[in-house]
Amino acid sequence: MKELRNLECVDKKIIVRVDLNVPVFENNITDHSRIHAVLPTLDKLIRNKNKVFLITHFGRPNGEVNKKYSIEFLCPELKKILNLKKIHFLDRCEKKIIDNKISEMNFGEICLLENIRFNAEEEKNDLNFSKLLSSSFDIYINDAFSTSHRNHASITGITNYLPSYAGLSFSKEIENLDKFLENSNKPNLAIIGGSKVSTKIKVLENLVEIFDSIVIGGAMANTFLLSNNYNVGSSLVENDFIDLSMQIQKKAETKNCKILLPIDVVCSKKLEDRENIEVYSINNIPNDQMILDVGEKSTKLISDEISKSKSVLWNGPLGAFEYSPFDKSTISVANIIQNYSSKSQLDALAGGGDTLAAIKKAKANDAFKYLSTAGGAFLEWLEGNKSPGFIALRENNF
Ligand code: 3PG
Repeated sequence: MKELRNLECVDKKIIVRVDLNVPVFENNITDHSRIHAVLPTLDKLIRNKNKVFLITHFGRPNGEVNKKYSIEFLCPELKKILNLKKIHFLDRCEKKIIDNKISEMNFGEICLLENIRFNAEEEKNDLNFSKLLSSSFDIYINDAFSTSHRNHASITGITNYLPSYAGLSFSKEIENLDKFLENSNKPNLAIIGGSKVSTKIKVLENLVEIFDSIVIGGAMANTFLLSNNYNVGSSLVENDFIDLSMQIQKKAETKNCKILLPIDVVCSKKLEDRENIEVYSINNIPNDQMILDVGEKSTKLISDEISKSKSVLWNGPLGAFEYSPFDKSTISVANIIQNYSSKSQLDALAGGGDTLAAIKKAKANDAFKYLSTAGGAFLEWLEGNKSPGFIALRENNF
């Protein structure tokens, strides 16, 4: 794989895929890690007086222009963090418009392209679109490890048309994840939270083969509880994944992997009602209640499991952590990990935008050997799957 760290590129036109799919809550970015992660690459390219075009996605607009997912709000953020005098922005991905912008730009300047997923061709990995994206540039750099598990036009297709390099953050992610994998001591524990089983189901199937125990939290746990015949009231569930949740638990049993589900839960009638909160055992959740966090007894179970483990991998918050007090278990778990890792009893690694935001909220960054900006890509890499983005860079032979 060719890497930017070994490349001196000066006065070139460079297209860089980054992942600025940052977590946003009530119009504020709650964690800037993904912006900070790409700074070394951008600094190097600017210093060397290249014309730099940035591509990113933001959310899942499903191939349609949708103002809600516009990334224009990132321009002032990038300008401030990169200490730039000026940043260009293009709201359309058309060859002529890109070429005009390139001629207008000075060397050492940056242009951000509007959310690449506004183009339906992106997720279809349409090669004509990749060609169009590449056609005005000399070099392609992928600094979006966190999106490299997607076989999309700006991740894989584009490498068919340009000399392609891993950015500085991409290289760093791989190095650190591999180091953790090689040195992960047993017993090991994975804590997997977040809202959807559907996005993590395949990962869970594989993690039961690697880990001694897995904690399942977040709204994802609701589908597991339902699959075990617990009433989960009006909680978020994914009915299509009940069978798979059962299968994962069966597979875990045969692989000697202990699955820990919540035993008590913090509920409210709705997310907006943060006054009338009740804690229930999972045996008697009323029909009109919604699970929004795991309870103290469950947190204690998780804490006991952490205390027995030598390495912990964490992806996904355990409750609706953006909304206090539903952040309680997530913050506690971050602090419990901090406690054991400060005594050098534990190696911890975490990944994912929301997880990083939660760790930051808990002021527990120092507890982790490495914080990956990647979520899904991070889990897939740890399963041993080389991502399509990585393979495309490795096979690039320009
Ligand atoms: C992420 O947040 O994990 C990446 O930005 C990838 O986003 P996606 O799951 O929408 O492809």
